[in-house]
Amino acid sequence: MHSDEIRKRFLEFFEKRGHAIIPSASLVPENDPSVLFNTAGMQPLVPYLLGQKHPAGTRIADIQKCVRTGDLDDIGDNRHFSFFEMMGNWSLGDYFKEDAIKWSYEFLTSTEEGLGLNPKQLYITVFEGDENAPEDTESRKIWEALGIPSDRIYALPAEDNWWSPGDNGPCGPCSEMFYDVTGTVGDLSKEGFIDAVKKENVIEIWNDVFMEYEKKEGKVIGKLSQRNVDTGAGLERITAVMQGKKTAYDTDLFENVMNALRNNASVKDERILRIIADHLRTSFFLIADGVIPGNTGQGYVLRRLIRRMVRFMEKIGLGDSTVTSLGIEIVKPYTREPVMYPNLVLNSGNIAQVIKKEEEKFKETLKNGIKEFEKGTDPFILATTYGFPIELTEELAREKGQKIDREDFEKKMAEHQKLSRTASAGMFKGGLANTNEQTVKLHTAHHLLLSALQDVLGKGVKQRGSNITEERLRIDFSFDRKMTDEEKKKVEEIVNSNIARDLKVVRREMSKEEAEKIGAEMEFGAKYADVVSVYFIEDEHGNHISKEFCGGPHVEHTGVLGKFKIQKEEASSQGVRRIKAILE
Ligand code: ALA
Repeated sequence: MHSDEIRKRFLEFFEKRGHAIIPSASLVPENDPSVLFNTAGMQPLVPYLLGQKHPAGTRIADIQKCVRTGDLDDIGDNRHFSFFEMMGNWSLGDYFKEDAIKWSYEFLTSTEEGLGLNPKQLYITVFEGDENAPEDTESRKIWEALGIPSDRIYALPAEDNWWSPGDNGPCGPCSEMFYDVTGTVGDLSKEGFIDAVKKENVIEIWNDVFMEYEKKEGKVIGKLSQRNVDTGAGLERITAVMQGKKTAYDTDLFENVMNALRNNASVKDERILRIIADHLRTSFFLIADGVIPGNTGQGYVLRRLIRRMVRFMEKIGLGDSTVTSLGIEIVKPYTREPVMYPNLVLNSGNIAQVIKKEEEKFKETLKNGIKEFEKGTDPFILATTYGFPIELTEELAREKGQKIDREDFEKKMAEHQKLSRTASAGMFKGGLANTNEQTVKLHTAHHLLLSALQDVLGKGVKQRGSNITEERLRIDFSFDRKMTDEEKKKVEEIVNSNIARDLKVVRREMSKEEAEKIGAEMEFGAKYADVVSVYFIEDEHGNHISKEFCGGPHVEHTGVLGKFKIQKEEASSQGVRRIKAILE
């Protein structure tokens, strides 16, 4: 079964059971400065799991793009990818364990509507109970009623069977489904099961989380006002199972690029080829979602991935100018109709250029850095003077059996304060926090800014990307030249006058067609659900100063925003400008 068919079957299965299908959110979370990337399907849905009404209803299914860069050393084995697609179905205070488990089972085993997997090769885990919640005997009973023998259902501790996105947010016990990929494993004791998982004869394919609890600062503080279901099935793993492969690197998702790599590399090290394929794919998806290589935040992760990839390419003799041709192979599996990620497919040529440019820049750095490393230059000097990333210094050291004194490095860096703190390893962890008041204000200012840009530069100005931290907002927009000082001043004046007018900010739900008809701003290349929420900024006569497709949150009145100021206006890419602005 082709990966396209798996996606299609999943969405159709849940659509038939009353779920609204929503498109994947961007990899870069909107208005949540506490995480760099969406790392699970549930992340863009957190406000709704906590009780906010979702415009699409209480049953939702989607395929969400995710990026996890926590442990790059795992990439290249059979199961880990820095980018993956997570298929998920959600109940937002609607159905609970009974339906969730029944549908998971049906989808996995039904030949007509689902994957047609053999029920005899399934193994199940449930939560064994602790001080936060009792043992999940209910899930066990539901599985047994579906025909899973009780000795193939294992109760495991919170470490394995309690899911939360981080230290804060909705969470709960989970029940995981595992599949015997050899077809020969048979009955297993609990220890035997754990061992078979370790050996990858039995692999996890789906996780049903019963989210009825909430975590704050690492502690479960009690129950939520509603009972939710959050499920996650990794497309890569399921595709491998369906295509009878040990790893997704041998499935249609990767086979084009893996073959191209095998043909071109002079050293055929399979693990290195996989790392290159993984990092290149992730870079493509990140850039498609507006990330560009840089020294902080998302840009730094992207830079690190590209640089790591370039190093491995050099190692196995993949020469210059391969990125563009490899890129074509990366994108190929995503070009079949219906196209899931239009921004990836439409921009693939430009994306390859961004990577190529970074590659060239890095090769210079690399040449000088390695020379200095060989001389024994201090990692701190390597980083600050030669722009040589500490992670690379560590890798070079590891290859030589040496260790870097990371603490010493961090101390020097902190004193030096040359690199932003976010560039350090700490930022890779992520975790959900509550939306900060200042980011909400900046978000509303962002809408006022787009509308002011259109007033001053013309209606042809369209949003191409956005990002908000606690300190500033950033907008990328289509415009083909530098703005004059006068234009910038004019834009600031308009935004500040709209703040002074204390305009109302109103959220309305409507069909996508309706929203398009009234000309609500939408982002180029983004996909939207059938029912959308649109934020209006309007005066007391109902005249719209701004209207945008947007999930919020926003302030209620613009009067609270403070003074708006543009900090920087610069080129972002061909035909796209970037503004960074603050509220004082
Ligand atoms: N949120 C759950 C996971 O990521 C489904 O495994």
